[in-house]
Amino acid sequence: MSPGLFSPFNLRGLRLDNRIVVSPMGQHSAVGGHVNDWHLAHLGQLAVSGAGLLITEAVAVEPRGRISPGCLGIWSDEHIAGYRRVIDFARTYGQTRMGIQLGHSGRKGSVSQSWFGQKTLSEAEGGWEIVNASPIAYPDRKTPTEIDLATIGQTTRQFADAARRADAAGFDVIEIHAAHGYLIHGFLTPLLNKRTDAYGGSLENRMRFGLEVFSAVRDAFPADKVVGVRVSATDWIDGGWTLEETIEFSSRLKALGCDYICASTGGVSPEQQIPVGPLYQVRFAESIRRETGAATMAVGLINEPEQAESVVAEGKADLVALGRAMLYNPRWPWQAAESLGAQVYYPVQYDRAHPSMRRNNAFIVQRERGS
Ligand SMILES: Cc1cc2nc3c(=O)[nH]c(=O)nc-3n(C[C@H](O)[C@H](O)[C@H](O)COP(=O)(O)O)c2cc1C
Repeated sequence: MSPGLFSPFNLRGLRLDNRIVVSPMGQHSAVGGHVNDWHLAHLGQLAVSGAGLLITEAVAVEPRGRISPGCLGIWSDEHIAGYRRVIDFARTYGQTRMGIQLGHSGRKGSVSQSWFGQKTLSEAEGGWEIVNASPIAYPDRKTPTEIDLATIGQTTRQFADAARRADAAGFDVIEIHAAHGYLIHGFLTPLLNKRTDAYGGSLENRMRFGLEVFSAVRDAFPADKVVGVRVSATDWIDGGWTLEETIEFSSRLKALGCDYICASTGGVSPEQQIPVGPLYQVRFAESIRRETGAATMAVGLINEPEQAESVVAEGKADLVALGRAMLYNPRWPWQAAESLGAQVYYPVQYDRAHPSMRRNNAFIVQRERGS
C-alpha cells in the first residue's frame, strides 16, 4: 500500500501529487515588495522539491501591511510580473502547485529584518504608521493606530485586489494569513481587540473582519481555484483566543467556501506559554478536522518522514506543512519518498543524483500536462 503522505489530494479542482506542503517563510529580501532573483532561486528550488504544494511567504496587500521593509508585496499591478516569473519556472521545471499567502502585519509591522532583531523602525529609519483593531502595542514596539471603519473596508478591498493580481500571476492557491498576531488575528483575539463597534466584543463581531476578508478574496479569485486560511488555533494565554473559537471560525469559513484550514498557534504576545515539541500543534488540526469536516493542514516541528506519515495515515490532518526542515533540506520529499517506499517527482536533470532516481525507474512520476 502506498504511504498516505505520498497519496494525491484534491483541493477543489486542484490535484496535489502528495500531502507535503512547503510552509510560508518570510525571506525579508524584497525592495518595494518586488520579487527578485533571491525569491526566484529560493522558491524555484522548492518548486522542484517534489512537495505537493508550496506557499510563499506572507505577501503584503498594502505597504504598511509588511512586517519588515524586505517583505514581498502585491499592492500594485507592477508586482505581478515578478510572481509570474516564479510561476513560469515552477510550471516548466516542477510539479509543485503554487500558493501565495496574503497578509497584513497589523501591529507587528514596521520592524527590521529578523537578522537585525526585528527592532521597531521609526519613519526616519524607513518604518511606517501601523494599524490594528485597538491601539495596544506589542511589547517594546510602537503603538498602532486604531483602524477606522472606512479603512477596514479599504483593507478588505486591498485583499480582494491582491487576490485578482495573484490570479493574474498564475497562482493556484491563496492562503489568507489570519494567524501569528497579525491584523486579522488582531481582530479575532480579545487580548488585542477592545473595540465597541460591530468589529469588537462578541465572537461574532471579532470574526467579522476575517470573514469579510475571506468572502472578498473568495469572490475575487476564480471559483475553480483554492482559498485556504492559516489560523492560530490558540493564543496560549489565559483570556486569549481559544480552540473552541477557532472551531467556530473554521466552520464559518468552510460555509463560505474555504478549502482548508492550516492550524498554527500563538504569535500574539511574548507571554505565550507554548509546550514546543515534535508534532505539538497537530492536535489542533485534528480537532478542527473532526469538529468541522474541513480539510486541515498540520504544521510545526513535523520533521521526520515517519511523523508526517503518521499525521496523514491516522487521519489527523489532510496535509502536512514543513517550514524549517525544508529550508535546511529542500530534498526532504525525495528522501522521505525513498524511506517510505513511495514515488515522487524530481527534475530529469537530476536523475543521476541517486540510484532511486534513474530515468526508467518507477520512482519517476511524469507530469500529466493539464491535470
Ligand atoms: C524563516 C521563517 C519565516 C516564516 N515566515 C512565515 C510567514 O511568512 N507566514 C507564516 O504564516 N508563517 C511563517 N513562518 C512559520 C512557518 O510557516 C511554520 O509555521 C513554522 O516555522 C513551524 O513549522 P516548522 O517547525 O516546520 O518550521 C516562518 C518560519 C520561519 C522559520
